[in-house]
Amino acid sequence: MAEALLQISDLSISFGGGAGELRAVDRVSLAVHRSEVLCLVGESGCGKTLTALAILRLLPPEARLGAESEVRFGGRDLLRLPERELDKVRASDIAIIFQDPASSLNPTQTISRQLTDAIRQGQKISRRKAQAAALAALSEVGIPSPELRLKEYPHQLSGGMKQRIMIAMTLAKQPSLLIADEPTTSLDVTVQAQILHLLHRLRREQGTAILFITHDMGVVAQMADRVLVMYAGQVVEHGGARGVFHRPAHPYTQGLLRSVPRPDRKYERLNVIEGSVPLPGQPASMCRFAERCGFCRPLCRSAAPPLTERDGAFARCFRYTEEW
Ligand SMILES: Nc1ncnc2c1ncn2[C@@H]1O[C@H](COP(=O)(O)OP(=O)(O)OP(=O)(O)O)[C@@H](O)[C@H]1O
Ligand SMILES: [Mg+2]
Repeated sequence: MAEALLQISDLSISFGGGAGELRAVDRVSLAVHRSEVLCLVGESGCGKTLTALAILRLLPPEARLGAESEVRFGGRDLLRLPERELDKVRASDIAIIFQDPASSLNPTQTISRQLTDAIRQGQKISRRKAQAAALAALSEVGIPSPELRLKEYPHQLSGGMKQRIMIAMTLAKQPSLLIADEPTTSLDVTVQAQILHLLHRLRREQGTAILFITHDMGVVAQMADRVLVMYAGQVVEHGGARGVFHRPAHPYTQGLLRSVPRPDRKYERLNVIEGSVPLPGQPASMCRFAERCGFCRPLCRSAAPPLTERDGAFARCFRYTEEW
């Protein structure tokens, strides 16, 4: 396969030190190829957002990166890029949208100001031209009366409207990679469907690759080309979306798919599998899912399972190894 657009290798992120150390992300590796949608799933606290933040070096200052961590984008390691170079990548190559669009918009500036500034960071054009581009971008994401909206401040807009404005900024930047961290969880179902449709278009028309983070397996089914499942800071399964849905390999993924939200519920957090996630102090030399797993054998408590290939997909489970 051609070289990936984004290649994360052995990413580790910890907090605290000594016996109290929490390894929130543990040697995560993943690749996103051009024009593809990779969905990153897993229950609350498994390390999805930290993984996304690390790509653009947006981690909180108390987070420590493991020395072997690498984030390669377009042939460069973003974790070791000079700050000025990284600013260019943030301005034009990689866009990021969060669950709460309000936190990404500046409450003291008009939408027009923020959109034109964002556009001019990526392209060297006049303010007038950028204003025209901002207007076009708002129309593209289906915002009614865009001329009026441009003059408004974030607090005058609904959540769905703000999220569309974030997507308009993304459209205007024409990034090759979009990182979307639960971009629709706070929105109602119809607005969610519209936003997912917009993201599909972005990929189709501009070839934007998307790293899509979600709890919602319904959304994964609609969006993903490939799926990567995280559990307690580790990748436990990855493969093509079809394979993961029809033949999930890891017992955790199997549990996730059994707990898929019902159509009559808007959204359900995927924490209905019995048991709880291991605490930071627990030994690393065993399977992290052992306590909750119906297949658990003594082997699973005596060593940590490797990511093992199974029909072109990968699962971190002893059941697919020769030792089983
Ligand atoms: N600043 C911090 N200090 C200490 N621990 C943190 C900090 N930020 C995150 N963590 C811990 O790291 C783990 C992973 O957090 P992260 O935000 O990546 O989870 P997530 O998978 O995005 O969860 P959610 O689905 O709830 O958004 C969590 O257990 C969290 O408590
Ligand atoms: Mg998160």
